[in-house]
Amino acid sequence: NQLLSRSPENVFELDTVEVNGRVRSVRRQKKWTFASIGDGTTLEPLQAIMTPEQAENISTGTGVELVGKWKASPYHESQSHELHVETLRIVAPVDSATYPMQKKTQVQGHSVEYLRSMPHMRVRQPFTQLLMEFQSACDYSFQKFFHKRGFVKTLTPILTSSDCEAGGETFSIKGPITKNEDGTFFKTQKHLTVSHQLELEALAQARDKVWSFSPTFRAEKSDTSRHLSEFYMLEAEQTYVHDKKEIMDLVENCLRSCVWMLWKSSGGKAIIYGKRSEGPGDEEAHGNLTKTLEARFNGLMEGGWPRITYSKAISLLESAAETFEHDPVWGGGLTSQHEHYIAATVGRGSPVFVTNYPKSIKPFYMLSTPAQPPDLGEMVENFDLLVPDVCELAGGSMRENNLETLVANMQEKGLLPQKTDGHLSDEDLGTYKDYVDLRRWGYVPSGGFGLGFNRLIMYLAGVPNIREVSLYPRTYGH
Ligand code: 4AD
Ligand code: MG
Repeated sequence: NQLLSRSPENVFELDTVEVNGRVRSVRRQKKWTFASIGDGTTLEPLQAIMTPEQAENISTGTGVELVGKWKASPYHESQSHELHVETLRIVAPVDSATYPMQKKTQVQGHSVEYLRSMPHMRVRQPFTQLLMEFQSACDYSFQKFFHKRGFVKTLTPILTSSDCEAGGETFSIKGPITKNEDGTFFKTQKHLTVSHQLELEALAQARDKVWSFSPTFRAEKSDTSRHLSEFYMLEAEQTYVHDKKEIMDLVENCLRSCVWMLWKSSGGKAIIYGKRSEGPGDEEAHGNLTKTLEARFNGLMEGGWPRITYSKAISLLESAAETFEHDPVWGGGLTSQHEHYIAATVGRGSPVFVTNYPKSIKPFYMLSTPAQPPDLGEMVENFDLLVPDVCELAGGSMRENNLETLVANMQEKGLLPQKTDGHLSDEDLGTYKDYVDLRRWGYVPSGGFGLGFNRLIMYLAGVPNIREVSLYPRTYGH
C-alpha cells in the first residue's frame, strides 16, 4: 500500500524493499515472469518481475516474502514502478490444482453463490478485503463521533430475558449441549438479544448519553437481500431530550461525520472509484456504479435531509398507487417498494426521515404523539430513515416515560396480562419488570435510535446483497 499509494511524481527509486503478500496471478513469458501480489490493503495488485526459475513454484494463492528493487516500469501502463525481485521466499505453498480461488478475468468473476459457500476463502478477494478495512474505518468514525460529543460506549449483554421488539423473533438458548439433563442452564429460557435498547435506556437514565455497537439477532424468516439473522447495530440513547428532532439530528450528524471521514480516506476512494473484479466488469457498468456511489456520498454529506410524516408519505404513495404491488393504506406498514419510492422521490440524493407512524404497527416503547389529527388513528413520536435500494437504514423514537401508558401499551400488544383490579405483580411483569421499574423510579425524557451497520455498508459500497458485505453472513436457512 505504501509503495502503490505514491503518486507517480513522488516515486523515487528505493534501494531495497521488502514486500509480503499473496500471489494473485502469474503471467509467464520466456525471459521474465510477472506476478501480481496483493496484501489486502489495495484493490490493485503490486507487479513483481522475476526470472522463470524464481517463479517456478508459485501460483495463485501462494504466500510469499519478496525482497527486491523498486524500479520504473517499462511494461505496465497501470503501474509506474514494479518490484524487481532479488529473493523470493515461499512461506505458504498452495496446490494450484485444488486452490479454490483461481484467478478469474475482470469480466467473469467467481459467482456470488460459489463465494458465499466459503466465507473463509471469499475474504481473499481484493474487494472483500477492502470491505474489511472500510468497515473498520466506519467503526472508528463512530468512536470519534460519539466520544467527541460526550457519549460513553457501553458493553451491553447479548444474552437476555426480554424481547425488545416484542416481535417474537428471538433465538432461544437453553445451555450447554452436553451434561445438562434439563437443558436450562439459566433456570429459565434465555434469548439472544434483538436490540440493546432496553439496557441502553437504563444506562442512559444514569449517564445521560450512551451508545453501543454490538451484534444483534433476529429469527426472522425473511430470505431477502436486506435481512440477516445476525447483524451489527449501532444504537444510541440520550436523556433530557424533549423532541425526536434532536435524535434525528444525532443520526444525521453521525452519518455525515462517518461519510466525511470515509470520503477522505484511501479505503473510501477505492470503494467509490476502484474497479472491482467481483462487481460489474465492463467500463459502462463501472462508470455507472461510480456515479451512483459519488451521488450517495454527496447526498449523505449534505445536511438538512428531508423529514416528512408517515401520513404525508401515504398520500404521496397513494398518488402513485398503480406502480406498487401492494396498495398503500394509512395504518399499514410500508413495503420495501413503498420505502424505495419515498427515498428516491423525496430524498433527491439524501436519505429521508419518515416520522409519526401509526401506534398500532410500532413497538410498545414509543412515546405517543400528543395531539392527533381527528380523522386519523393514534401515532407515535418515531422516525425511520430511508434510503433507495436498502430502504430502512435506521429507526428511532422518543420513549414512553409514563408508567401507566407504557403498561397499557404493553397490555394492548398482549405482552402483559389485563387485570381487573389494575394491579400487576412482579410476576405479571415477568421479563419486562426492570424496564417497567425504570418508569416507577424517575424516568427522565429519553430518545434513541438503532442503525443497521451491514445495511449502511451495503448502501455506501453499492453492494446489492447484504450477504456480500457480511464476512460471515447468517441468514434464514443458511
Ligand atoms: O428497526 P429496528 O428493529 O429497531 C430497533 O431494534 C430499535 N430497538 C433500535 C433502537 O431504537 N435502539 O432495527 C434497527 C435497524 C433497522 O433500521 C435496520 O437497519 C437494521 O436495524 N435491521 C436489520 N439489518 C439486517 N438484518 C435484519 N434482519 C435487520 N433488522 C433490522
Ligand atoms: Mg425499524
